[in-house]
Amino acid sequence: MGVIRVTRVLIVGGGGREHALAWACAQDHGVDIVCAPGNGGTASIAKNVRVEVTDAAAVAALAVEEHADLVVVGPDAAAAAGVADACLRRGIAVFGPTAAAARIESSKSFAKRLMDEAGIPTARWTSGGAEDRGRLRAFIAKLGGACVIKADGLALGKGVVVCDTASDAERALAACLDEGRFGDAGMTVVVEERLAGPEVSVFGLCDGTRLRMLHTARD
Ligand SMILES: Nc1ncnc2c1ncn2[C@@H]1O[C@H](COP(=O)(O)OP(=O)(O)O)[C@@H](O)[C@H]1O
Ligand SMILES: [Mg+2]
Repeated sequence: MGVIRVTRVLIVGGGGREHALAWACAQDHGVDIVCAPGNGGTASIAKNVRVEVTDAAAVAALAVEEHADLVVVGPDAAAAAGVADACLRRGIAVFGPTAAAARIESSKSFAKRLMDEAGIPTARWTSGGAEDRGRLRAFIAKLGGACVIKADGLALGKGVVVCDTASDAERALAACLDEGRFGDAGMTVVVEERLAGPEVSVFGLCDGTRLRMLHTARD
């Protein structure tokens, strides 16, 4: 892939992360920034434009209209909705995963299966829906109740319950499977063995061929 000269960046999203991204891009002289939708913080360093971030076609159309030569996709929901795919189809460079790659984020059971297939160590797990209740319960019992119940899909960072006992786990299962607390995202759950110890996030960038590791971080 050749080097592109970036003069106008469209940052998709409207949270603190996107403000940080806009701030970082603004450190480069001669780069104009558009945020969609952005927020009060980005307003002082970028042009804010209203858009539904999960409307991939609308975001791509905006990128064309704004003459963006790079689109940076912030929210996982935008990545899962195929914003990168839509922009790439219109010939615009994108920093962010295609919908297919974003499945690692948007389906925890997909991510777990992928880790198993690739031989990546991961907590023991199973997944299922309402019809698999018996099997999910048996797995929770096998773990002695110390488990983590996760809505399979995107749940605004709220879809994970760390449980001490089987009755905690039962309540978390009910919230997903009976009460629909996370809508479709919780109709399938992942039940995981509960791990103990420090958690570290490891970041890598990949363009499909090359991999570059970044720093590690803790939440
Ligand atoms: N297997 C586990 N054992 C113990 N704690 C866990 C486990 N899985 C997740 N957690 C805790 O729950 C948090 C959120 O879980 P995670 O799978 O990262 O979901 P997401 O980031 O999509 O909300 C983690 O940061 C961690 O603190
Ligand atoms: Mg996480």
